[in-house]
Amino acid sequence: MLREGIVLNESMLKVDAFLNHQMDPQLMQAIGTRFAECFRDHNITKVLTIESSGIAPALMTAMSLGIPMLFARKKKSLTLQDDLYTERVYSFTKQETSDITVSKRYIGPNDTVLIVDDFLANGEAAFGLCRIAEQAGARVAGIGIVIEKSFQPGRKKLTDAGYRVESLARIASLGNHRVTFAEETD
Ligand code: G4P
Ligand code: NA
Ligand code: NA
Repeated sequence: MLREGIVLNESMLKVDAFLNHQMDPQLMQAIGTRFAECFRDHNITKVLTIESSGIAPALMTAMSLGIPMLFARKKKSLTLQDDLYTERVYSFTKQETSDITVSKRYIGPNDTVLIVDDFLANGEAAFGLCRIAEQAGARVAGIGIVIEKSFQPGRKKLTDAGYRVESLARIASLGNHRVTFAEETD
Protein backbone atom coordinates (compact mmCIF):
# COMPACT_ATOMS: atom_id res chain seq x y z
CA MET A 1 0.00 0.00 0.00
CA LEU A 2 2.80 2.40 0.86
CA ARG A 3 4.84 1.55 -2.21
CA GLU A 4 2.19 0.97 -4.85
CA GLY A 5 -0.97 2.57 -3.48
CA ILE A 6 -2.06 5.98 -4.74
CA VAL A 7 -3.90 8.25 -2.31
CA LEU A 8 -6.55 9.79 -4.55
CA ASN A 9 -8.03 12.04 -1.87
CA GLU A 10 -8.82 11.96 1.85
CA SER A 11 -11.14 9.00 1.46
CA MET A 12 -9.94 6.88 -1.47
CA LEU A 13 -6.86 4.72 -1.90
CA LYS A 14 -6.19 3.34 -5.38
CA VAL A 15 -4.58 -0.10 -5.33
CA ASP A 16 -4.83 -1.11 -8.96
CA ALA A 17 -1.27 -2.46 -8.83
CA PHE A 18 -2.15 -5.53 -6.74
CA LEU A 19 -5.87 -5.76 -5.89
CA ASN A 20 -8.36 -3.89 -8.06
CA HIS A 21 -6.96 -4.26 -11.57
CA GLN A 22 -3.65 -6.10 -11.75
CA MET A 23 -3.71 -8.78 -9.05
CA ASP A 24 -0.78 -10.24 -7.15
CA PRO A 25 -1.39 -14.02 -6.89
CA GLN A 26 1.17 -14.60 -4.14
CA LEU A 27 -0.33 -11.81 -2.08
CA MET A 28 -3.83 -13.25 -2.69
CA GLN A 29 -2.61 -16.66 -1.57
CA ALA A 30 -1.09 -15.20 1.61
CA ILE A 31 -4.37 -13.37 2.29
CA GLY A 32 -6.30 -16.61 1.82
CA THR A 33 -4.00 -18.48 4.19
CA ARG A 34 -4.42 -15.76 6.81
CA PHE A 35 -8.24 -15.69 6.66
CA ALA A 36 -8.31 -19.49 6.73
CA GLU A 37 -6.19 -19.45 9.92
CA CYS A 38 -8.50 -16.87 11.54
CA PHE A 39 -11.62 -18.92 10.89
CA ARG A 40 -10.24 -22.48 10.78
CA ASP A 41 -12.19 -23.66 13.83
CA HIS A 42 -15.60 -22.37 12.73
CA ASN A 43 -16.62 -25.19 10.39
CA ILE A 44 -17.02 -22.79 7.48
CA THR A 45 -18.74 -24.43 4.52
CA LYS A 46 -18.66 -21.55 2.03
CA VAL A 47 -16.79 -18.33 1.39
CA LEU A 48 -19.15 -15.59 0.15
CA THR A 49 -18.06 -12.41 -1.63
CA ILE A 50 -19.27 -9.93 -4.25
CA GLU A 51 -17.97 -9.41 -7.75
CA SER A 52 -15.49 -8.32 -8.86
CA SER A 53 -12.53 -7.46 -6.64
CA GLY A 54 -13.64 -9.66 -3.75
CA ILE A 55 -13.31 -12.76 -5.89
CA ALA A 56 -9.53 -13.19 -5.78
CA PRO A 57 -9.06 -13.04 -1.99
CA ALA A 58 -12.26 -15.06 -1.46
CA LEU A 59 -11.17 -17.75 -3.88
CA MET A 60 -7.79 -18.14 -2.21
CA THR A 61 -9.45 -18.30 1.22
CA ALA A 62 -11.80 -21.01 -0.03
CA MET A 63 -8.86 -22.89 -1.52
CA SER A 64 -7.05 -22.75 1.80
CA LEU A 65 -10.14 -24.01 3.67
CA GLY A 66 -10.90 -26.65 1.01
CA ILE A 67 -14.45 -25.39 0.39
CA PRO A 68 -16.31 -23.58 -2.43
CA MET A 69 -16.35 -19.85 -2.99
CA LEU A 70 -19.60 -18.17 -4.03
CA PHE A 71 -19.82 -14.60 -5.34
CA ALA A 72 -22.88 -12.38 -5.40
CA ARG A 73 -23.60 -10.77 -8.74
CA LYS A 74 -24.20 -7.04 -8.92
CA LYS A 75 -26.75 -5.56 -11.27
CA LYS A 76 -27.92 -1.98 -11.60
CA SER A 77 -31.55 -2.99 -11.49
CA LEU A 78 -33.28 -6.26 -11.72
CA THR A 79 -36.53 -7.95 -12.48
CA LEU A 80 -37.00 -10.25 -9.51
CA GLN A 81 -36.49 -13.92 -10.09
CA ASP A 82 -37.68 -16.42 -7.54
CA ASP A 83 -34.64 -18.68 -7.76
CA LEU A 84 -32.43 -15.83 -6.47
CA TYR A 85 -31.81 -14.21 -3.09
CA THR A 86 -31.70 -10.46 -3.75
CA GLU A 87 -30.62 -7.55 -1.55
CA ARG A 88 -30.44 -3.87 -2.37
CA VAL A 89 -27.09 -2.22 -1.58
CA TYR A 90 -26.40 1.51 -1.65
CA SER A 91 -22.83 2.63 -2.31
CA PHE A 92 -21.92 5.94 -0.68
CA THR A 93 -18.64 5.94 -2.62
CA LYS A 94 -20.32 5.55 -6.00
CA GLN A 95 -23.67 7.09 -5.00
CA GLU A 96 -25.59 4.34 -6.69
CA THR A 97 -27.86 1.51 -5.71
CA SER A 98 -27.44 -2.00 -6.99
CA ASP A 99 -29.21 -5.25 -6.44
CA ILE A 100 -26.93 -8.10 -5.46
CA THR A 101 -28.06 -11.64 -6.12
CA VAL A 102 -27.09 -15.18 -5.22
CA SER A 103 -28.74 -18.33 -6.55
CA LYS A 104 -30.79 -20.24 -3.97
CA ARG A 105 -29.14 -23.37 -5.33
CA TYR A 106 -25.75 -22.66 -3.76
CA ILE A 107 -26.51 -21.50 -0.20
CA GLY A 108 -28.86 -22.83 2.44
CA PRO A 109 -29.56 -23.52 6.12
CA ASN A 110 -26.75 -26.06 6.46
CA ASP A 111 -24.13 -23.47 5.50
CA THR A 112 -21.78 -21.56 7.75
CA VAL A 113 -20.50 -18.65 5.74
CA LEU A 114 -17.33 -16.58 5.86
CA ILE A 115 -17.76 -13.28 4.04
CA VAL A 116 -14.65 -11.86 2.37
CA ASP A 117 -14.24 -8.51 0.59
CA ASP A 118 -11.43 -6.31 -0.66
CA PHE A 119 -12.43 -3.00 0.99
CA LEU A 120 -14.56 -2.04 3.97
CA ALA A 121 -15.83 1.54 3.84
CA ASN A 122 -19.43 2.04 4.94
CA GLY A 123 -20.16 -1.65 5.29
CA GLU A 124 -23.08 -1.70 2.88
CA ALA A 125 -21.71 -4.50 0.70
CA ALA A 126 -20.84 -6.65 3.73
CA PHE A 127 -24.28 -6.06 5.28
CA GLY A 128 -25.93 -7.00 1.99
CA LEU A 129 -23.97 -10.26 1.93
CA CYS A 130 -24.92 -10.95 5.58
CA ARG A 131 -28.59 -10.40 4.73
CA ILE A 132 -28.34 -12.77 1.78
CA ALA A 133 -26.77 -15.46 3.97
CA GLU A 134 -29.47 -14.92 6.59
CA GLN A 135 -32.28 -15.04 4.00
CA ALA A 136 -30.88 -18.46 3.09
CA GLY A 137 -30.96 -19.54 6.75
CA ALA A 138 -27.15 -19.79 6.81
CA ARG A 139 -24.98 -18.73 9.74
CA VAL A 140 -22.43 -15.91 9.28
CA ALA A 141 -19.21 -16.87 11.10
CA GLY A 142 -17.49 -13.60 10.35
CA ILE A 143 -16.21 -11.12 7.82
CA GLY A 144 -12.66 -11.02 6.44
CA ILE A 145 -11.59 -7.70 4.92
CA VAL A 146 -8.35 -7.04 3.05
CA ILE A 147 -8.25 -3.25 3.55
CA GLU A 148 -10.40 -1.55 6.17
CA LYS A 149 -10.77 2.21 6.15
CA SER A 150 -11.13 2.56 9.89
CA PHE A 151 -12.06 6.24 9.60
CA GLN A 152 -15.31 5.26 7.86
CA PRO A 153 -18.21 3.69 9.77
CA GLY A 154 -18.38 0.18 8.28
CA ARG A 155 -16.42 -1.69 10.92
CA LYS A 156 -18.29 -0.18 13.85
CA LYS A 157 -21.65 -0.81 12.22
CA LEU A 158 -20.79 -4.46 11.60
CA THR A 159 -19.33 -5.14 15.04
CA ASP A 160 -22.26 -3.32 16.70
CA ALA A 161 -24.54 -5.69 14.80
CA GLY A 162 -22.65 -8.61 16.35
CA TYR A 163 -20.47 -9.68 13.42
CA ARG A 164 -16.82 -10.60 13.90
CA VAL A 165 -14.66 -8.52 11.54
CA GLU A 166 -11.03 -9.49 10.78
CA SER A 167 -9.21 -6.89 8.70
CA LEU A 168 -5.69 -7.50 7.44
CA ALA A 169 -4.84 -3.82 7.04
CA ARG A 170 -6.52 -0.96 8.87
CA ILE A 171 -6.13 2.57 7.56
CA ALA A 172 -6.62 5.30 10.14
CA SER A 173 -6.29 8.18 7.70
CA LEU A 174 -5.63 9.10 4.09
CA GLY A 175 -5.01 12.74 5.04
CA ASN A 176 -1.87 14.68 4.03
CA HIS A 177 -1.68 12.61 0.82
CA ARG A 178 -0.44 9.57 2.67
CA VAL A 179 -1.56 6.30 4.22
CA THR A 180 -1.53 6.22 8.03
CA PHE A 181 -2.28 2.82 9.53
CA ALA A 182 -4.35 2.28 12.66
CA GLU A 183 -2.34 1.25 15.72
CA GLU A 184 -1.95 -2.50 15.95
CA THR A 185 -3.35 -2.38 19.46
CA ASP A 186 -6.72 -0.76 18.55
P1 G4P B 1 -19.13 -0.33 1.48
O1 G4P B 1 -19.61 -1.56 0.81
O2 G4P B 1 -18.14 -0.62 2.58
O3 G4P B 1 -20.26 0.55 1.94
O4 G4P B 1 -18.29 0.46 0.40
P2 G4P B 1 -18.73 1.45 -0.77
O5 G4P B 1 -20.09 1.13 -1.24
O6 G4P B 1 -18.45 2.81 -0.30
O7 G4P B 1 -17.69 1.02 -1.92
C1 G4P B 1 -18.07 0.90 -3.27
C2 G4P B 1 -16.98 0.32 -4.09
O8 G4P B 1 -15.79 1.09 -3.91
C3 G4P B 1 -16.59 -1.10 -3.76
O9 G4P B 1 -16.08 -1.69 -4.93
C4 G4P B 1 -15.43 -0.90 -2.77
O10 G4P B 1 -14.58 -2.01 -2.71
C5 G4P B 1 -14.75 0.28 -3.39
N1 G4P B 1 -13.98 1.11 -2.47
C6 G4P B 1 -14.43 1.80 -1.39
N2 G4P B 1 -13.43 2.53 -0.88
C7 G4P B 1 -12.34 2.30 -1.64
C8 G4P B 1 -11.00 2.79 -1.62
O11 G4P B 1 -10.57 3.61 -0.79
N3 G4P B 1 -10.17 2.30 -2.58
C9 G4P B 1 -10.58 1.42 -3.54
N4 G4P B 1 -9.65 1.02 -4.41
N5 G4P B 1 -11.83 0.95 -3.59
C10 G4P B 1 -12.69 1.39 -2.65
P3 G4P B 1 -17.05 -2.18 -6.07
O12 G4P B 1 -17.78 -1.05 -6.68
O13 G4P B 1 -17.92 -3.24 -5.50
O14 G4P B 1 -16.14 -2.68 -7.22
P4 G4P B 1 -15.18 -3.89 -7.45
O15 G4P B 1 -13.83 -3.34 -7.18
O16 G4P B 1 -15.49 -5.00 -6.52
O17 G4P B 1 -15.45 -4.26 -8.84
NA1 NA C 1 -13.73 -2.91 -4.80
NA1 NA D 1 -15.57 -5.35 -3.35
